[in-house]
Amino acid sequence: MNKYNIVLIGFMGSGKTTIGKRLSLHYKKEFIDTDDFIEKKEGMKISEIFQKYGEEYFREKEEELCERFSIKKSKIISTGGGIIKNTKNMDNLKEGGIIFYLQTTAEKVIENLKNDNTRPLLQGDNKYEKVKALLEERTPLYEKYADHTINVCDSSLEYTVSLIESIIDDFK
Ligand code: S3P
Repeated sequence: MNKYNIVLIGFMGSGKTTIGKRLSLHYKKEFIDTDDFIEKKEGMKISEIFQKYGEEYFREKEEELCERFSIKKSKIISTGGGIIKNTKNMDNLKEGGIIFYLQTTAEKVIENLKNDNTRPLLQGDNKYEKVKALLEERTPLYEKYADHTINVCDSSLEYTVSLIESIIDDFK
């Protein structure tokens, strides 16, 4: 495990940050959240970055970050839901990283994000339709890059975390 990064991918609201923090506590490894990292570096919230500079600029920042993280080792990395849109990102993250895909449904995403308005891609009306369309478009990519797929819909947080830990421990 020391040689590898543990990388969490998956749709918005699938629990990447929460699960990543738990894994980081358990393994006493540094936790990196790509969205947090970008927000701190840019000195503004993701929603402001999208508003001021557009999505493309944000994606450039993601790409720079993934390049930087490819040489890191032994970190727990939680990624933004759109990270898989760029092949370069995933090539970099896969370099020395084990990829866990947190698989969820549109219904669960809506439930998890019902009090959350921070995601620029889900603003406005028809949130469910937006989630469904994006999820459909991205699912093949999440599946393509996953080393392990973890269904997070029907399980408790505790169960999901312990399942991921058991896979990591088996790998040692
Ligand atoms: C995005 C997901 C967000 C954030 C940005 C774009 C996406 O991260 O990177 O709003 O394209 O799916 P989370 O998956 O952590 O919500």
